[in-house]
Amino acid sequence: MEALIEVKGVSKAYANYATGRELVVLRDIDLQVRPNEFVCLLGPSGCGKTTLLKILDAMITPDRGEVLLGGRPLIERLADIGFVFQDVGLLAWRTVLGNVALGLEARGMPRRQRETVALEYIKLVGLEGFAHYYPHQLSGGMQQRVGLARALAISPKVLLMDEPFGAVDAMTRQTLQVELARIWEQSRATVVFVTHDVDEAIFLADRIVVMGRAQATRSVNVALPRPRWNRDAQSDPEYVALRVNLIRMLNTAHAAAAATVAHAAAAATVAHAAAAATVAQTAKGGE
Ligand SMILES: Nc1ncnc2c1ncn2[C@@H]1O[C@H](COP(=O)(O)OP(=O)(O)O)[C@@H](O)[C@H]1O
Ligand SMILES: [Mg+2]
Repeated sequence: MEALIEVKGVSKAYANYATGRELVVLRDIDLQVRPNEFVCLLGPSGCGKTTLLKILDAMITPDRGEVLLGGRPLIERLADIGFVFQDVGLLAWRTVLGNVALGLEARGMPRRQRETVALEYIKLVGLEGFAHYYPHQLSGGMQQRVGLARALAISPKVLLMDEPFGAVDAMTRQTLQVELARIWEQSRATVVFVTHDVDEAIFLADRIVVMGRAQATRSVNVALPRPRWNRDAQSDPEYVALRVNLIRMLNTAHAAAAATVAHAAAAATVAHAAAAATVAQTAKGGE
């Protein structure tokens, strides 16, 4: 099947003030996501997952390469993308209903209609009865549900999620994962979900892309049948084998990242010593 999202040769570097050099975060990344696919980007902290996701939402422009959505430049298709951040970013002065309706309001949908739609999604994420609550009256898990409802309300073709359950407790996280899998099976949106949690990736994904420093290293298919919450998936030999394999891949990615950091630190030390020598010399010259 033809890809919905195509990432072609994307590279991105940031200026690194500590070393005075550029930090290459993404190098020549190619990634294709099929319609209705659920892809997890899995990788250690700092490997560039958020950067890649923000490039997929055109919040960050890559230095090289391009992203196509349905064969069109990303910038023409932004209305088709929903985004859920780790930090939900709800508007404190708006109720749940007001927050969920935000994207619809921005699209010019009349009030009655957008409230009807928003209420549907509030129900879908299990927050029926909380429409008139304010964010500070909700738990972290409930706020995440509001963020999800807000993103889903615009019926996005593509849903981008950046460690959305990273800040909630383990039990709530599990509930939210089950809910997300259920909602995704209903909506069949195309999802790119960032996580550093191996089990979360295996539970949710059709395919897991393991990212290491600067490169998306390998992509692994998850063939476990759905729905996965009905069965004792974690004792499935296939699950166990996949988990071991992923952890090995992550460790390799992590070791590579650590080596790069050590290298950068060494370079900084050398630069520092050189600078000190220059200062010393200047001081001497001034005598
Ligand atoms: N705006 C920025 N300016 C400079 N460096 C950045 C910026 N954003 C991210 N970085 C650096 O790029 C690397 C990758 O960051 P990020 O994409 O957030 O990784 P991840 O989401 O995998 O943890 C990190 O080393 C981070 O410090
Ligand atoms: Mg991140």
